[in-house]
Amino acid sequence: MPLSIAEKSLSSPVLLAPLAGITDLPFRTLVSRFGREAHWMARAAKEVEGMGARVIDINMGCPAKKVVGGLSGSALMRDLDHALHLIEAVVAAVNIPVTLKTRLGWDDTCLNAADLARRAEGAGVQMVVIHGRTRCQFYKGHADWAAIAEVKAAVDIPVVANGDITGPNAAREALRQSGADGVMIGRGAQGRPWVLAQVAHSLGHGPAPDVPQGAALLDMICGHYEAMLGFYGADLGLRVARKHLGWYMDDLATCAKLRRQILTERAPARVLALLRRADDSERCAA
Ligand SMILES: Cc1cc2nc3c(=O)[nH]c(=O)nc-3n(C[C@H](O)[C@H](O)[C@H](O)COP(=O)(O)O)c2cc1C
Repeated sequence: MPLSIAEKSLSSPVLLAPLAGITDLPFRTLVSRFGREAHWMARAAKEVEGMGARVIDINMGCPAKKVVGGLSGSALMRDLDHALHLIEAVVAAVNIPVTLKTRLGWDDTCLNAADLARRAEGAGVQMVVIHGRTRCQFYKGHADWAAIAEVKAAVDIPVVANGDITGPNAAREALRQSGADGVMIGRGAQGRPWVLAQVAHSLGHGPAPDVPQGAALLDMICGHYEAMLGFYGADLGLRVARKHLGWYMDDLATCAKLRRQILTERAPARVLALLRRADDSERCAA
């Protein structure tokens, strides 16, 4: 029998006591992180569906300590029954497709992605993305694309291979080894936003992208910079943008002095002016 207050039933009969000066919002938030309740997953899914989301992708692949410490993300691979409970709650809560992104398993002794994918398919999940590493690998070593083949063989829904796919050759190899239906690219797109279109073209989907060079590339970078400031606001935007500018400058081989200026400058107009010189290493060195 659930604990109820008036008409409202509580999700658990275990309550955190008020301790003045101790149980503040940060502490309550920390305590609630250990909840992993299907009820909240379902509610969040419903809310984003109401906001216009066309797909819900459940992330059970995040290896970050702060997420895994709360027994979420890839920690759920150690408790498939609970993972399934969360998946079922989300699928039942929404009318849009639900997909799942996960890793090969927790560690080399617990490679259960195929089992999770099979059970997720049974619960109504419509696609799985597999990052070819275990949680305990974090981002070390190389993604094992061949290991994804076991997941592909276990389900009829589409399987997408992920991890270390940086261009057409890697994508072809990942598809060959895994037998997957598609690829997902993360870090390979940093500083190279055209790479997805290049890979798609190499696989016979869509035209080859026009990869900008010279002034057109600098126009693109400045446009992206302005879009980030508009989206995040000047303060946060400035910091978020630095990561992207760093990746662009890696490819442009911008000299160290100009790079430092661009990454420490706070006035957006000045950053834009400096960026115009980011591919001119001769003048930059002068
Ligand atoms: C900075 C960073 C943040 C990430 N955040 C998430 C996330 O929020 N959810 C998720 O499912 N995976 C997240 N990932 C994992 C990536 O989606 C992807 O699975 C991983 O980077 C391997 O693919 P890649 O080699 O193409 O980057 C993150 C990875 C990085 C590097």
